[in-house]
Amino acid sequence: MDVIEKNKLRMNQLSASAPKLAKQIEVLDWDELTVALNECIFQPNQSVLPKEYGPASYLPLEAENEEQKEHYVRAFAHGESLIRDGKTAAFTVAGGQGTRLGYNGPKGTLPVSPIKGKTLFQLFAEQILGISRKYEVVIPWYVMCSPLNLGATLAHFEKMDFYGLDRGNIKFFAQGVMPATDFEGNLLLADSDSLALSPDGHGGSLKALIDSGSISDMAKRGIEHVSYFQVDNPLVSTINPLFLGLHDLQNSDMSSRSLTKTGPFEKLGNFVSIGERITIIEYSDLPEEKALEKEEDGRIRYRAGSPAIHILRRDFIEKFASGKIKLPYHRAEKKVAHLNEAGEIITPKIPNAVKFETFVFDALPFARNPLILEADRLEEFSPVKNMTGIDSLESSQADMVERAKRWLTNNGIKICESAKIEISSVSFPAENDLVNVKGERIDLSGDFIYLE
Ligand code: UTP
Repeated sequence: MDVIEKNKLRMNQLSASAPKLAKQIEVLDWDELTVALNECIFQPNQSVLPKEYGPASYLPLEAENEEQKEHYVRAFAHGESLIRDGKTAAFTVAGGQGTRLGYNGPKGTLPVSPIKGKTLFQLFAEQILGISRKYEVVIPWYVMCSPLNLGATLAHFEKMDFYGLDRGNIKFFAQGVMPATDFEGNLLLADSDSLALSPDGHGGSLKALIDSGSISDMAKRGIEHVSYFQVDNPLVSTINPLFLGLHDLQNSDMSSRSLTKTGPFEKLGNFVSIGERITIIEYSDLPEEKALEKEEDGRIRYRAGSPAIHILRRDFIEKFASGKIKLPYHRAEKKVAHLNEAGEIITPKIPNAVKFETFVFDALPFARNPLILEADRLEEFSPVKNMTGIDSLESSQADMVERAKRWLTNNGIKICESAKIEISSVSFPAENDLVNVKGERIDLSGDFIYLE
């Protein structure tokens, strides 16, 4: 008997006296589980690498010649007009479990800003509010949660009065889940009345946008572009006019920001090209000899890494509705607490289970005219994955302060080197919004400077 049949039989027996489990089994998509098991457990040796590929080319953040400069100026203005004309939505993926952070609550509700302790969600909300006011337009915000954190996320927003945004313009919805299995493909139970379920990866966002009605809501509102960002990057430019303008002028289905890797083995996905198409090869899959390849000028060839910031055309996302194009499953080996045969809950110390996840960047190879625009890491990327150390709350707060200092200094406002600084995105969603702010407006006397 194959594993699926075995699982069906076992679950039918177990669910006879377990009503919640019975419901879960009733709606479980066995065909989908079969695909996931095949891709991640039974035929895992299929190469994840394309046959032939090279480093993807990207647009530099600073234009390199006059022609490019003019193009960027045009693109920025075009991006601004797309925003002003209400063609753009903000989209946050916040369905992850944030296990590395170890915070008791949805990650977006973590206080992160260095002085006011604003949450990640508040920082995005204020930026969206700031941009909406600047361009006198409604920017709808779509927030993807998971069934595990949707209730807590909603309750948080209600308590915070939606951070000043109009409730009608924020849509919360849950992504799909997949059951976890052991390494042989046997379904795991979280308790006697439930499967061990986990969110199906950020790639699940495309289906979830469709299934939740978000895409049709966007269509009704005239939204053409979806600005995608992760919940854990407080520096992200939620709606970026230059990026948006370049993306639309190139008629790109899906565009991405890139970071110049700090070294050949930095743990970022690598943008690579396969002919006209682009894909991402994870850092763990890029062969060492490729990672070490160099240009004549000494820079590594595979230097464009992904900070997971994208713009997707709404009609490109709609193509995933039919189910004809599917994202592959990735195997994530995790520690999953589960009920054993003896009816005891086992909390493993080492990974014991496979979670099945899809990744949004796997949509890239399906995109026509994909575009990559370089980003300045110091300006736009400092994820909060851990509490301390690399990519942590600590490092991200330090980066927020440094960026605020830079913004003020670049605008001719002198500040004390040791001061902690925070700038509100409601009034200043971008650096150039500080252009007319004079030093007198800011009280520079204290150790803490908050620019409202
Ligand atoms: P990560 O890959 O960092 O995962 O997610 P995570 O669950 O947040 O954290 P760890 O790995 O358990 O510590 C990157 C982004 O993708 C979202 C997360 O919320 C985060 O914004 N995500 C991830 C989803 O929305 N759904 C998922 O199923 C997985």
